[in-house]
Amino acid sequence: MSLDAGMMPFGRYAHIVGWGKAIPDRVVTNDELAQIVDTSDEWIRTRTGIRQRHIAVDPNETTATLGAKAARAALDTANLPSSKVDMIICATSSPEHTFPATACIIQDLIGATNAGAFDLSAACSGFVYGLGMAKGLIASGQADNVLVIGAETLSRIVDWSDRNTCVLFGDGAGAVVVQASAVPGGILSTEMGCDGSGADVLILPAGGSKMPATLETVASGQHFVKMNGRAVFRFATRVMTDATRKVLDRAGLRVEDVDLVIPHQANERIIASSMRQLGLSEDKVFMNLQHYGNTSTASIPIALTEAIEQDRIKPHDKIVMVGFGAGLTWAGAAIEWGVPTERETSFWQTSQRTAAYNLARARSQLLRISRRLESSLVSEDGASLAERMSKRFGGRKPEEDAPPAEAEQELLEERSGEEEA
Ligand code: UT7
Repeated sequence: MSLDAGMMPFGRYAHIVGWGKAIPDRVVTNDELAQIVDTSDEWIRTRTGIRQRHIAVDPNETTATLGAKAARAALDTANLPSSKVDMIICATSSPEHTFPATACIIQDLIGATNAGAFDLSAACSGFVYGLGMAKGLIASGQADNVLVIGAETLSRIVDWSDRNTCVLFGDGAGAVVVQASAVPGGILSTEMGCDGSGADVLILPAGGSKMPATLETVASGQHFVKMNGRAVFRFATRVMTDATRKVLDRAGLRVEDVDLVIPHQANERIIASSMRQLGLSEDKVFMNLQHYGNTSTASIPIALTEAIEQDRIKPHDKIVMVGFGAGLTWAGAAIEWGVPTERETSFWQTSQRTAAYNLARARSQLLRISRRLESSLVSEDGASLAERMSKRFGGRKPEEDAPPAEAEQELLEERSGEEEA
């Protein structure tokens, strides 16, 4: 599936105008992991490039709180109040619940009272899929401001006794604001693909409707990530190359035009091999997986934010974001960067936004309290407080106010007779 530059109706372009990240404090080094599973810093570094990862150890730090923090940072750089957001797309492989969507919880946390919200499940390709959705919403005139978030707490679904997977993943979130503009550029083209025959290659088997949670599924570790690493590796190198070629082609660009590739940060060897096949030199590829490991949907927006912080992106640069993941899925986007990356926020703007977030928190608390009160006033059989009071203390029941069925029928007949006359 694709949406190309040439398909933009009404001259509406989709630009990334805000970016941000949220990273948990706790760092877990390879040496620390070597104390809990049979591995070594040397093995992890040479096979993956990862040196450490960040883990959300505080139970109050969740996929939604990390996502909300990254979203606020993105809204800050975009200088956009959350009330102006039309849609929140949260790409995640570790949602807080099967439902409601983590995006809805983020909507509440940031007070985006005018936004729709949904989760996008395309594993590590999810963030780039989200960019494709944002571009479509903007091009069709359905939205002006879309928050695209990648947020994960994979540490909670990883088997910490399985060295094949636990050394790879990390927690974190990244977000962008995609905004409608009449200025040509922005997200030029996208590619979103899938090969479901590889669904079992990278999977969290239990907890869904096919294998609901039972004592057995828990005891046999079916609620943890299972992966055939070699199969993913082979698939990844092929699709990263193909997807990059496709988006460049659709955007009318050549490999030589690319200023920076921001690939999914899974494995240094996968990135190096696919970029070599494309003929792209190392200096045109952004990598930060050594610090964070594979943060799935969050890896590309975190990398984008850091690339900007390190002055690797300037207006008119041609950027490719490309990823792959469970599904098996892949996705790419070619972007012409459209906005300055240096941002200055005044004290007044920061205070205004802080006040708006505090107000949103108070509003949410009030709504929760009133909902709790409302349901405490209605009993399990659906009787309202007035009905229960009447039952307990006597007095006229509400149904006594209504005319009996025959009287009601007579009244209706009388009225229809009057109308005919
Ligand atoms: O977002 C998508 C998420 N998934 C990925 O990106 C995964 C893609 N695949 C990979 O990155 C690589 O396949 C891995 C890093 C997972 C593995 O690297 P590899 O070079 O493909 O190693 P391998 O699977 O061929 O395993 C080589 C050996 C095996 O031992 P034997 O069977 O040869 O005796 C593994 O058991 O390395 C062993 N091994 C480890 N040894 C030390 C696997 N994991 C570890 C470990 N420490 N953590």
